[in-house]
Amino acid sequence: MQNFEQFLLDNLPQSQSIHPHYESALQNMLQAGGKRFRPALLLSVVKAYNPLMLDSARHGALAIELLHTYSLIHDDLPAMDDSPLRRGNPTLHVVYDEVTAILVGDALNTYAFEVLSKAPLSDEVKIKLIRELAQNGGLNGMVLGQAIDCYFENRPLQLEDIKTLHTNKTAKLIAASLKMGAIIAGHEDVAEKLYDFGIQLGLLFQIQDDILDVTQSSEEAGKLTNNDEDKNSFVTILGLDEALREANVLADALTEQMCSFDESLQRELSPILTKYINRHKGN
Ligand code: IPE
Ligand code: IPE
Ligand code: MG
Ligand code: MG
Ligand code: MG
Repeated sequence: MQNFEQFLLDNLPQSQSIHPHYESALQNMLQAGGKRFRPALLLSVVKAYNPLMLDSARHGALAIELLHTYSLIHDDLPAMDDSPLRRGNPTLHVVYDEVTAILVGDALNTYAFEVLSKAPLSDEVKIKLIRELAQNGGLNGMVLGQAIDCYFENRPLQLEDIKTLHTNKTAKLIAASLKMGAIIAGHEDVAEKLYDFGIQLGLLFQIQDDILDVTQSSEEAGKLTNNDEDKNSFVTILGLDEALREANVLADALTEQMCSFDESLQRELSPILTKYINRHKGN
């Protein structure tokens, strides 16, 4: 992932103008770090099936990270989760103002698709990648999840609806990361299987995020915790013990499914998956 970090720094969004802080605001949250979970998933699939494509694949990985970072910037806005801390840093609306945070989110969203359109890949592959990112990150993906998440604050949902919420909000982009890796590697035969696996993985990732909201301090998490009381978070609805049980069931199922993957895919994915599949269990 060291190469990805360098690639990201080399491809930060740039804009020189009379605006005193627009460019630094564009770059701020990208440079603040983050786990880079989605890029790591995409790149692991490419490494497993077609390592010669890794340089080209970084463009796809960057596009996902850009869209994800935009979603976090908007997620933290006062109108949404109203959070002052992200990736260990003050959020953009705190450092600058709300207008800047909204517009930086908009810019990173569109820059993601600009990056994809310019990637050194065939037009056919690029269109497929653009479609995947749009379908999973957009109106019937992450944005829909965020809309349901915010509308149903203080309106408890049934478990099935909560799963739909989190599938859209979080799991689809994680599933798309794996699928985009398969598309770039030219192994579309595994794309759907990886997508389905990614939906389960993404659901687990969000259950864990909800668990960490009540078990970690803001310093540990690098973001405001204990902030989900009004939400249909798995912990708010199920309670911590039941959320942990649900996470364990999903973690076991994913570990089992991973054993049915090709040997090369298992080799590349298992370090990252072992780390993340078990992260609700603490250290
Ligand atoms: C946070 O995502 C939002 C969720 C979808 C749970 P990450 O936990 O991947 O955030 P970063 O990228 O590491 O900051
Ligand atoms: C947000 O979920 C998921 C996104 C689409 C950004 P959360 O609101 O739980 O994410 P955190 O806890 O603020 O990172
Ligand atoms: Mg949120
Ligand atoms: Mg939030
Ligand atoms: Mg959260």
